[in-house]
Order: sequence, then structure tokens, then C-alpha cells
Amino acid sequence: MCDRQVEKTIRLQEDIIGARQAGRDLARAAGFGTVDQTRIATAISELVRNALLHAGGGLCRIAVETTEASATLQVTVSDDGPGIPDIALAMQPGHSTTRGLGLGLSAVRSLMGGLSIESRPGRTTVVTSMTRRR
Ligand SMILES: Nc1ncnc2c1ncn2[C@@H]1O[C@H](COP(=O)(O)OP(=O)(O)OP(=O)(O)O)[C@@H](O)[C@H]1O
Ligand SMILES: [Mg+2]
Repeated sequence: MCDRQVEKTIRLQEDIIGARQAGRDLARAAGFGTVDQTRIATAISELVRNALLHAGGGLCRIAVETTEASATLQVTVSDDGPGIPDIALAMQPGHSTTRGLGLGLSAVRSLMGGLSIESRPGRTTVVTSMTRRR
């Protein structure tokens, strides 16, 4: 068992790159292949970009848990912004409240194979993870 965790505060545009890079580094260290590293990095940039754009910033936590059989990388992005009133609608491809493409959340779900969102005014938490067999 070998656990690693990184926390990145999201306040500025350049924090997207920092979080993305931290995710790629952790994924590589945990033995994920280059394709999965890119999936993870892309998912992190979309979620961090959402926290920045829709909530003015937040926190990105990337954690790796390794067992004898598998390695799981979990990404948690949280913010204290306005919240997402209709989560099912927000996840639909093409839905955006800011004239974006509205593809971020659905892309994360496809890239990572799942996505869970908890949201109320003042607290939104988005969690996604990827597991590989060792
Ligand atoms: N952290 C958040 N806080 C509040 N609302 C959010 C948050 N993340 C997503 N949303 C809402 O969900 C919608 C869909 O998000 P999604 O990432 O799919 O698209 P987008 O950010 O609008 O555009 P794109 O990501 O394609 O540039 C957003 O338009 C916004 O209304
Ligand atoms: Mg987005």
C-alpha cells in the first residue's frame, strides 16, 4: 500500500496548468500509461476550469491509492461558489450557462468512465477516478 496526495489551490488561470501537470505526474508515478495520463490530465483541466469559471476558484485534490492488485487515482475538485441547480442538465453535452460549448462535464465522464457531483449553494464537489490493474 502506497498512498500519495497532492492539493492545489485554484485561483488563477495558470493554476489549471499546475493541477493538470500534478495529475499527469501522479498518474505516471502510479504506473498509468500515456493515454490514461492524458485522459486524467484533460479531466483535471476541465474540472479546474469549471471551478475557476463558474465559481471563482476552489481546491483540486489528487490522490493515489495503490494495493497489490490495483492503483486508483481519484480527483476531487471542490468550490464554494453558487452551486449547480440541476446536475443532470449540467452533465448533458451542449448545456452551458456561460456560452461555453457545454462539453466539459460530459467529456470528463467519458474520459474517466464516471463522474459524481454533489452541489448546493456554497459548496460543489466533483469526484472522478480511474483504476488500473497492476
Ligand atoms: N463548479 C461549478 N459551479 C457552478 N456551476 C458549474 C460548475 N461546473 C459546471 N457548472 C455548470 O455546468 C454547466 C456545464 O459545465 P461544462 O463544463 O459541461 O460546460 P461549460 O463549462 O459551460 O463549457 P465548456 O466546459 O465546454 O467550455 C456550466 O455551464 C455551469 O452552468
Ligand atoms: Mg466547463
